[in-house]
Amino acid sequence: MARPLFQALPGTRDILAPDSQRMRALVEVFAEEAERAGFGQIVPPMFEDLGVFTRIGESTDIVTKELYDFEDNGGRRIALRPEFTASVCRAYVQSRPVPPWKSWYAGPAFRQERAQKGRYRQFDQVGAEAIGSHDPDLDTELIALAVRFYQRLGLTDVTLLVNTLGDKADRPGYLDALRAYFGQHLDALSEQSRTTLEINPLRVLDSKRPGDAEIIAAAPVLLDYISDEAAAAYRRVIDGLTALSIQFVEAPRLVRGLDYYTRTTFEFASNALEAAQNAVGGGGRYDGLVADLGGPDDPGVGFALGVDRTLLACDAENVFGAVETAADLFVVATTEGTEALALTQQLRSEGWRVERAYDGRSMKAQMKAANKSGAPVALIIGDTEAADGTVSVRPMAGGDQVVVSRSDLIQQLKDMLP
Ligand code: HAM
Repeated sequence: MARPLFQALPGTRDILAPDSQRMRALVEVFAEEAERAGFGQIVPPMFEDLGVFTRIGESTDIVTKELYDFEDNGGRRIALRPEFTASVCRAYVQSRPVPPWKSWYAGPAFRQERAQKGRYRQFDQVGAEAIGSHDPDLDTELIALAVRFYQRLGLTDVTLLVNTLGDKADRPGYLDALRAYFGQHLDALSEQSRTTLEINPLRVLDSKRPGDAEIIAAAPVLLDYISDEAAAAYRRVIDGLTALSIQFVEAPRLVRGLDYYTRTTFEFASNALEAAQNAVGGGGRYDGLVADLGGPDDPGVGFALGVDRTLLACDAENVFGAVETAADLFVVATTEGTEALALTQQLRSEGWRVERAYDGRSMKAQMKAANKSGAPVALIIGDTEAADGTVSVRPMAGGDQVVVSRSDLIQQLKDMLP
């Protein structure tokens, strides 16, 4: 086949049925769990003033390297969202809902990443944010929501990693300790990490380069530098997770890829995926972000889960598969009139999933299509049926074909179909 004139761009793809149906089903599961937990849906715009996203942080790749930004016809600097959290905070500042404001979302986000399996330039997230409360029980409830969601998909091989990044005021002391520590090991650090060290020593902890791992493993941990209040909040989350029998691993050097985090941070790693793309979701507190966006000094906590990666994890664990939905009925027409068209619409309005053949194909070809559709019953309208106001009803699994009058048809089908 000749190469098509246009193809979806690198890092983007068409999601076709039944995979698209599976993706929608995943969002429906998430929506149900989020709404049970008191979150209402927010549908923010997909693009915002560039400034909304630069607040995510200056040492964050998604801002410095991966943002899709452009100038619109009005000369505004615009960016496609690389994530939802900044938009949700902007919406909070703009609408001033009564705190704590709990919202969930689903939709695409955009990052100019090196495209590979599990890493796309347009990918989908589902997520939830709670703004306006310091209560660490909210952190625990959010984690529990994500855990419950994975459970409902049937995923079992997902590890929850938990850490605290303390408060902004705890940071300088810890950053000094990190600078001093990494300073002693400069020669062994990768060039990339040496650069990162100058911009934000915290992010060196996030390096996945093999050579860095050993040095990072012995780096000072933030827990030793945080205030009593932040430590108590962390303890409360740990106790909460334990009380809810949620399995977790404390990861004292987990920092995550975004700069806005304070206090609780967490990540979900699928052990069924390759290590480079095994983060199926993550989140944490971002107590200064609302203020950075010009709002009150209100705290926030939330998470986002990668839909594409979560579905890859489902594939790897062989759960939550895509299902081809069979038709309930197939209409076969060998008459020229409009009877088949009318019958098909009538049956669809009764709530059945109805397929038919087009282009005046032969009876044989139509029966083949009926078979393929998975419909248990075919309805045949030929010239005789059209003239008599009847339909021939043929069970596809075998059995007698019967002629039924149009007025009795619906009842007859209700008796036949499950
Ligand atoms: P994040 O860790 O950047 O966090 O993204 C969350 C999840 O989105 C990742 O764990 C991953 O599954 C998925 N993801 C990210 N980038 C890609 C990509 N290029 N291709 C496929 N999947 C991807 C956030 O976005 C934060 N807003 C989470 C949050 C919410 N924190 C507080 N509230």
